Amino acid sequence: MPIINRIADFQPEMAEWRHDLHAHPETAFEERRTSDKVAELLQSFGIPIERGVAKTGIIGSLEGSRPGGRAIALRADMDALPITERNQFAHASQHQGRMHACGHDGHTAMLLGAARYLAETRNFAGTIHFIFQPAEENEGGARLMVEEGVFERYPVDAVYGMHNWPGLPAGQFAIRPGPMMAAFDIFEITITGRGAHAAMPHLGIDPIVAAAQVINGLQTITSRNTHPLEGAVVSVTQIHGGDTWNVIPEALVLRGTTRSFDPAVRDMIEPAIRRIAEGACASLGATMAMRYERRYPPTVNSPAETETAAAAAAELVGDGNVRRDLLPSMGAEDFACFLEKKPGAYIWIGNGAAVDQAMLHNPHYDFNDEASEAPGVPPMLQCIAQEVAGDHGQEDHQAGIDRQQRRRGDQLLGIAQHAAPAGEWRLHAEPEKAQYRFEQDHIADAQRRRDDQRPEHVGQNMQP
Ligand code: NI
Repeated sequence: MPIINRIADFQPEMAEWRHDLHAHPETAFEERRTSDKVAELLQSFGIPIERGVAKTGIIGSLEGSRPGGRAIALRADMDALPITERNQFAHASQHQGRMHACGHDGHTAMLLGAARYLAETRNFAGTIHFIFQPAEENEGGARLMVEEGVFERYPVDAVYGMHNWPGLPAGQFAIRPGPMMAAFDIFEITITGRGAHAAMPHLGIDPIVAAAQVINGLQTITSRNTHPLEGAVVSVTQIHGGDTWNVIPEALVLRGTTRSFDPAVRDMIEPAIRRIAEGACASLGATMAMRYERRYPPTVNSPAETETAAAAAAELVGDGNVRRDLLPSMGAEDFACFLEKKPGAYIWIGNGAAVDQAMLHNPHYDFNDEASEAPGVPPMLQCIAQEVAGDHGQEDHQAGIDRQQRRRGDQLLGIAQHAAPAGEWRLHAEPEKAQYRFEQDHIADAQRRRDDQRPEHVGQNMQP
């Protein structure tokens, strides 16, 4: 049975799981009920599991029915956010101050659907590890899994993850090799002056005025210190200081976040913040102390696995619905910690138009069940598994690999032709070695080859 039809059979159940998770959101490392539910379902599919990985995480492992093949990991995140939901629908959060506002309920349900389908068929070679990770938001559940040795105990050749993307039409995917999401760091600056009566400012050292100078100065890190074509963000997001109308406080605290892609830019930002803050404070007689924490590395897709994921998506929705033209996001994703250790790819799945501007982390956001019902969306992970593990139904393993290699070659050829349209490119492919080489004909050669293909020439060579 074609995969999409079979998945469609249990689509209503996947939506039920999703709605149940949505109604009972749990934040970082508190995902106990969620974890129980995931464990119960995986076991009901006959998939052996390990629990308690990074506290509440779960890993399920499934071997294909055919020998050999590669091992891959497919990952979903399970945690919710400390947000009070403003939606009124039946599956809205039952817990004040907690909400699935990033669609991790949908990711978990989709990976459960994938696990169920693959456990039913087992028609692949190799091993698939299903990683249900806790604490994607802020607390780095993926990093903890890596530190606990997840890839030593479950060795994999590649790891794949996905995230819904509001604004990208349902039924479309977006992916690119290289950076998809930014590195995420945080900083805290404590500025200390001398408290005074607000009517006698000359007797104090005003940390509020110092903070204003610091905040303005920090704007120059991206505008004056970062290469104009590189991405970087330095945002002050909190100011805590002062208690009343007529007192200049003794001290205050600034907090914020930085984003970047390039490691050199990331290395530049921390000392630049310190230099600017120290200088601005010193010029006013105030002092500062700073804490800077590197949280998540950039999420960087490896080229081959990007093509595998893109090919899997194209298989479902057609090449035209696999977008390659979106800019990377300055948002961050702790899937990056897995990608630091293993090759892999992270792909965005269209969540449809953002209703009422309800983007990710908005109290009106919801994972789009309609989007997840769009042809091809839920089985994305299965298809990645098929691409990697060679499960193509009737097609044998080698045929699957050949088809994937051909597609990869076609894509590379398309890119080459697009990049240098003046000549003609010829592809020399050795798919068995995964090697592709391009040669550009001289325009005269290209013309001659075109002449050779005219009907009169072709006719001469035609077999009776
Ligand atoms: Ni998220």
